[in-house]
Order: sequence, then structure tokens, then C-alpha cells
Amino acid sequence: MAATVIIGAQWGDEGKGKITDYYAERSDYIVRFQGGNNAGHTIKYQDEEFKLHLVPSGIFREGKKAVIGNGVVVDPKVLIEEIESLEERDIDTSDLILSDRANLIMPYHRAEDLLEEKLKGDLKAGTTKKGIGPCYSDKVGRFGIRVIDLYNPKSLRNKLEKVIPMKNKLFDAYDEDEEWDVEEVFQKYRDYGKKLEKHVEDTSVILNEALNQGEDVLFEGAQGTHLDIDHGVYPYTTSSNTIAGGACCGSGVGPREISSVLGIVKAYTSRVGTGPFPAELEGDLGEHIREKGGEYGTTTGRPRRVGWLDLVMLTFSARVNSFSGLAITNLDVLAGLDEVKICTGYRYEGKEIREFPADIEKLYDFDPVYESFEGWEEQDWDEIAEKGYEALPENAKEYLDYIERKTEVPIKHVSIGPKRDQTVEK
Ligand code: IMP
Repeated sequence: MAATVIIGAQWGDEGKGKITDYYAERSDYIVRFQGGNNAGHTIKYQDEEFKLHLVPSGIFREGKKAVIGNGVVVDPKVLIEEIESLEERDIDTSDLILSDRANLIMPYHRAEDLLEEKLKGDLKAGTTKKGIGPCYSDKVGRFGIRVIDLYNPKSLRNKLEKVIPMKNKLFDAYDEDEEWDVEEVFQKYRDYGKKLEKHVEDTSVILNEALNQGEDVLFEGAQGTHLDIDHGVYPYTTSSNTIAGGACCGSGVGPREISSVLGIVKAYTSRVGTGPFPAELEGDLGEHIREKGGEYGTTTGRPRRVGWLDLVMLTFSARVNSFSGLAITNLDVLAGLDEVKICTGYRYEGKEIREFPADIEKLYDFDPVYESFEGWEEQDWDEIAEKGYEALPENAKEYLDYIERKTEVPIKHVSIGPKRDQTVEK
């Protein structure tokens, strides 16, 4: 396995948690490399449901290291709460490692997230309000506070003394009732630091040593390709590099170490937040898929917008991530429909378009072009999971073959239900 990267091929929520968990079984290290607690994974473990936002899902596997890499933005309060709630439920968190170089989400970042969304009006991304964007802005602007700063009181205070007055002035300028006190934030973050200290290490050194010793490392992407800050539907994206290349920057492991990149593709498309969505399904059919697929945000509880699978998005993802394999999820959700469609391109002013435009405002004017497939009946999915891929309904297999042909990426896994064993290999 060596180093495998798992990436959402769409707008996030493709069911990465379950596939990651499946791969985690064969890995020694499970690494988050970007994003923060805007992500949410629901994992079923020993018939209990766990919702994780920051801790890599590999934490449930005994003896495996769960790593939060330097590219992640960490809200220490949330991380501490997550560790404590796992411990309360008897999940051992001693194998959790936090990068000393990760940037920290500060109280002003959460407030700025709300303010910026308000100021952006129709350009707002519909963020998760966790302070992700402002934290990455400060990182790039070099105003960031990093994990290591929590252990250098002089440096931490010095940095807070520079940044907090700026933030206070900003909020004052917009007549916002928010203000932060250097000493208060300093004390609070020093306390967080004490609680997290036993987890803090140089994760790049640890991961490279592990790879040199032949251990298997799994990189667990959060969000999805089309939310990537460079390649996504900017400005309705998140603020990190969600694509496979982000695994290198966000962990300090070089690109030659990556041996495979698995793209996770939901059998249809879902989207939280605002922005154009060409293959969106509104009305009863959309409502049916949303309900059947349980399409409500893990982090925010918001209903997700749903639509048909979009091949323009998917071939784009295959290109920018260099996928070596695909995992198709939620295939069971489409069962029972007479007809299933795939968007193969867009039509605009009489021309057919097969590439995602850089000016994504154009997407509002594009009409989706569909290929239609005969649907498949509801099945006993447990029985199919036992029998394997060949037992899938013929029409479903045709649907999958089409995806494979058009993306030129082999399908490796098909998930047909939420449970860990409801996955078939191809
Ligand atoms: P932010 O990451 O909170 O700044 O939100 C920016 C955009 O990314 C919004 O459209 C969010 O709905 C979306 N987003 C962030 N995290 C996730 C996720 O884990 N799944 C799906 N969408 C997400």
C-alpha cells in the first residue's frame, strides 16, 4: 500500500469516512492534511455512531497512529472536546499525533468568518462558520498562531500583541460588538497547549521515517476536489488545497512517496453551501434522494442540495488528482428509480462544453446534457455484499461501467450501504 491518498471527487460528503476506515485497517498511519473542523465524518463502530470533525477516523483501529498534519487548521477547544468525548466512550487516543506546525483557529477567526460572510452578500460561500477561511488567511498573511507557539510564552504573547489590536480595530470599524483581550486569549491558549502537549510532534519526520521503514500511510482528504481553493468553484470553495497534491504540502511528505490516489465518488452529486450546481435536482426527485441518502450535513445539519452524477466534474477531478482508482458510494440510494441519469456535458449557445469553466458564473447559464440509464430495483444489499460485485443488478453494473469508461479510471470499490461490510470490491 505504501502511501495512499483518499480524495473526495465532488463537493465533499462522498462517504470518504467509511472508505477511509476500510483502508485504515491495512495502514499504520492515518493522516489528515488539510481543512479543520469544517469536515465531518460519521463512523459506525461496534454498532455505535461517532461523529468526528478533527481526529482522523483511524483512531478506532488499535495500534494505528492518527496524525493531524501541518496543513490542518486546528481549533484546540474542539480538538480537546473530541479527545475527551472519545476517551469517555473508551476509545484510546494515546496514538493521536498533532503537528507542531499546524495553525490554530483563534476566537477572532470564528467571528471573522461570520462577518466576512455577511459582507460578501451574494458572494458568500455558505461556510460552516468554524473560522476556517480567516485562519488560512492569517496563515498565508503570516499572522498565524501555530501549535508550537503554545509552548513558547514569549513568542505567543508577542504574536497576540500584534494581531489582536488589528482584529479589534477591524470589528470596531464595522460597528461589531466583538473585542479580544491579549491576556485572556493568551491564558486560554496556554491552557489548551497543556492539554494537548503529549500529542504534539514533528509529524513530517515521523511520517517519512515510517515510510522509510516500509510502513503504510493513509492520507485522508476532507471536503472535496471542487471545494479546492485553486481548482474548485472559487469563490464558493473552502480555503485549503483539497486535491491529492495537498497531501504533500499538508504533511511534509514528498510527491514521490505517494503510490496511489483513490477518488471517492457518490453515485449522484450533493452539495452544501451556495454556488452554481448544473445537474441539481429540485422538486420531488431531489427530495426523495435527499431523504433516502440522509443528505444532511454532519457538521451543520443543513440539508444538502442533490443532483445527478456530473461527469464533467468527475473527469476534471480525475485529471487534477491523477486518480489511480475510484470508490463509488451510495449506489443503493439510487435503487428503485425507473430512470437514472448522468450529466455528460453542458450546452451553451449551441455548443457542447465538456470542461469546467474557470469563470464559474457561466455555469448558471449552462444547460446540462444527460445520458439516461434504466434504473434498478431495491435489493437485499447484505446478500449482495456477501456475494460480491457480480451480484449487483445488471443495470447498476452498466451504470458503473459507463463511469469507468468515461473517466478512464478503474472502479475498485462500490459501497452499497452505511455499514462497514456493505462494500464490494471490483
Ligand atoms: P468553510 O470550509 O467552512 O470555509 O466553507 C466553505 C465552503 O465549503 C462552504 O460551501 C461549505 O459548505 C463547504 N464545506 C466545508 N466543509 C465541507 C465538508 O466537509 N463537506 C461539504 N462541504 C463543505
